[in-house]
Amino acid sequence: MQIPLFSDQWHHTIDPEIQPFREQLLKWVGNKQRFAHEIIGYFPKQFGVYFEPFLGSGAVVATLQPTRAQASDISFPLIEIFQTLQRDPDTLCRWYTERWERLKAGDKKAIYLAIRDEFNASPNAADLLFLSRSCYGGVIRYRRGDGHISTPMGIHNPISPESFEKRVREWHRRTRYVDFCHLSYVEAMARAQAGDLVYCDPPYQHSESILYGAQSFSLQVLLNSIAECKERGVYVALSIDGTKRSGDLICDLPIPEGLFQQEVFVNVGRSMLKRFKMKDKSLEADNVTDRLLLTY
Ligand SMILES: C[S@@+](CC[C@H](N)C(=O)[O-])C[C@H]1O[C@@H](n2cnc3c(N)ncnc32)[C@H](O)[C@@H]1O
Repeated sequence: MQIPLFSDQWHHTIDPEIQPFREQLLKWVGNKQRFAHEIIGYFPKQFGVYFEPFLGSGAVVATLQPTRAQASDISFPLIEIFQTLQRDPDTLCRWYTERWERLKAGDKKAIYLAIRDEFNASPNAADLLFLSRSCYGGVIRYRRGDGHISTPMGIHNPISPESFEKRVREWHRRTRYVDFCHLSYVEAMARAQAGDLVYCDPPYQHSESILYGAQSFSLQVLLNSIAECKERGVYVALSIDGTKRSGDLICDLPIPEGLFQQEVFVNVGRSMLKRFKMKDKSLEADNVTDRLLLTY
């Protein structure tokens, strides 16, 4: 499909000097906070509505600060965090402060475990927010059998309520025009129209399916959704695991010929997933590169 070069539908013109934004709201495995600006540098120079169907911690959307956007994720408590950020940021601050003070007042480990038990008994945004900030390595792991979060407490002290509130104010401002939805990526991507942009950052392909509780993720289904978007004239950018020491994994992926026009490498530094598994061992050699595949 031919995409018109100039029309009323363009809502975004990419600033070539887009600034890094490093203040995370949540700690989240696989987050793109440190190089979101690099990724955005490869977005089309103009596009309509911005779609981010694998929101996670929202690093890219918060760096972009779009004026029309839909951001979604399969995790309901996660989306509730962002909806609360938008509608009632004071409540987000209160949720965090209450749990931070509880932790400070007693046996840290026991209180962390109690908050984790509360989440597992009844998954909710308030507990997930605090667990993400206080768990080991920011790696929320869901146990295979019962889907419960199993991550132990982190070795760091969670940031103070004052620092958290500062982040909340900044994130609230940056995401004020975003429509946060609880959707699977298939439903989310089906809403994009000609000239819109979809940025996909799916779960790690070649690592444990227990992360994010996303056991059912299939790259093949995602590739079909991308092909349908392209057919409708939607731009799609896909982040995918980069080169690993075990070899060039992209060769194994069932990517249809002609689906992507460009492939670029973005530096992601150390792998958080490895750091979690290997505890505190040095990982100087474990720099990975993220691949970005572009349909345009
Ligand atoms: C790699 S993370 C995204 C990280 C994000 N770019 C960031 O900077 O934090 C992948 C996200 O995809 C979500 N996810 C997994 N399966 C999904 C599905 N079927 N539909 C929508 N989201 C899904 C997970 O909950 C997780 O938040």
